[in-house]
Amino acid sequence: MAGNWPPISYVLNTLNMATPIKGFSKLSREEKIKALQKQSKLAETTVYAFDEFIHPEKQHLFNDISENVISNYHLPFSLAPNFLINDHLYMLPMVIEESSVVAAASKAASFWAKNGGFKTKVIDTVKHGQIYFSWQGDLNHLKYYEEAIFKLINATTDDISANMRQRGGGILGFEFLPVKNMPHTYQLLLKFNTVDSMGANFINSCLEAIAPKLIDFINHTDELSAPEKASVVMAILSNYTPDCLVECTVSCPVEALKSYAGDYSPEDFAKRFKTAVDIATNDTYRAVTHNKGIFNGIDAVVLATGNDFRAIEAGAQAYASRNGFYSSLTEIKLNNKHFEYTLTIPLAMGTVGGLTQTHPMAKAAMEILEHPSAEELMQITAAAGMANNFSAVASLVTSGIQKGHMKLHLSNVLNALGASEQEKKAAIKHFKGTVVSYSLVEKFLNTQKD
Ligand code: MEV
Repeated sequence: MAGNWPPISYVLNTLNMATPIKGFSKLSREEKIKALQKQSKLAETTVYAFDEFIHPEKQHLFNDISENVISNYHLPFSLAPNFLINDHLYMLPMVIEESSVVAAASKAASFWAKNGGFKTKVIDTVKHGQIYFSWQGDLNHLKYYEEAIFKLINATTDDISANMRQRGGGILGFEFLPVKNMPHTYQLLLKFNTVDSMGANFINSCLEAIAPKLIDFINHTDELSAPEKASVVMAILSNYTPDCLVECTVSCPVEALKSYAGDYSPEDFAKRFKTAVDIATNDTYRAVTHNKGIFNGIDAVVLATGNDFRAIEAGAQAYASRNGFYSSLTEIKLNNKHFEYTLTIPLAMGTVGGLTQTHPMAKAAMEILEHPSAEELMQITAAAGMANNFSAVASLVTSGIQKGHMKLHLSNVLNALGASEQEKKAAIKHFKGTVVSYSLVEKFLNTQKD
């Protein structure tokens, strides 16, 4: 039957649909844009924007980062000053699209700089990699061979891990585990220390080298071999990093919270703050938003420093569910006189390798942060998360967040509507202290044109 079907291009043409493109990656940039124009109607200004945002001298750097690059996507690179972290003052580089995140981080940083600063510590830096395999043997038998398997692992990865061992890292250990609900499917869970690199390449290279050797070992050891040969399913690092953990604490006398308390007394503010955190601890709908406020700061630093924000998000969001339900990543201790607030979060970050040393702005971010080690960067990043969360919760339990958002929102709307400098000035005056919406600003600009 299948042989009787007309070619796909004929079917798509009949349906008036675009034909799938073959070999797109091999086309030049201009050809790619032409192919795009054939498929989607684009305004001339859009095509112009593709050219406008190409870097005049350093485009090759960006072309090497991804595939099928036709332009660059700019985001603001900002500084949040006054981060006092373990008695050292930093300005944090932040890359973020949401207006108010940098302002909120800076406000909290200034406040905490006057109140002891952020106290941070790395709890551990262990990362995991997994080799999954199918095998009909008995896991207890495998355990007799752990010493031989460790020797095999070390011999197999000797070359790959030479550099890493020199820097103080490498493979720390391993264990065999069954996979829940899947008889005959097992994993070799390996522990790694990747020092200052995020370590994905190192871990994956080790795993892919070990996997076939392990299976060979099983299939060629009489006591382990089974009627059906063992085989590798897959080998990959885990982005779940509950042992690559950092803690950030801020604390002060309740009285000192006065400047954040708005119309409340510092005691009432602190109580309201605690209630908000307790809600995020016990209610998942709120916990997700509460943690999102943490990631406003975390992601901005992770992006600025060229780290893998998807890996960080996946690992930390999973950590928020470690007790069986999704909950807050922060904890609060409050007595009448003292406020103590702690964020505990896994952050598998690196300061060598990857984009951290190739993207010019990531390099600049590292320089701004005085070339931190991975452990230092974990602590700096945790402080950014704490600052944004503190600011957000403090606003929520006092004036709400819209008041602070409105000014920045207004400037975004004015830019989106193409307002002139004069119109912007008039709009800022007009909307001072009032609610801003796209349609209200549009209406106001129209009155200015009359
Ligand atoms: C907005 O980007 C972040 C907040 O929603 C966080 C929070 O609710 O805690 C304000």
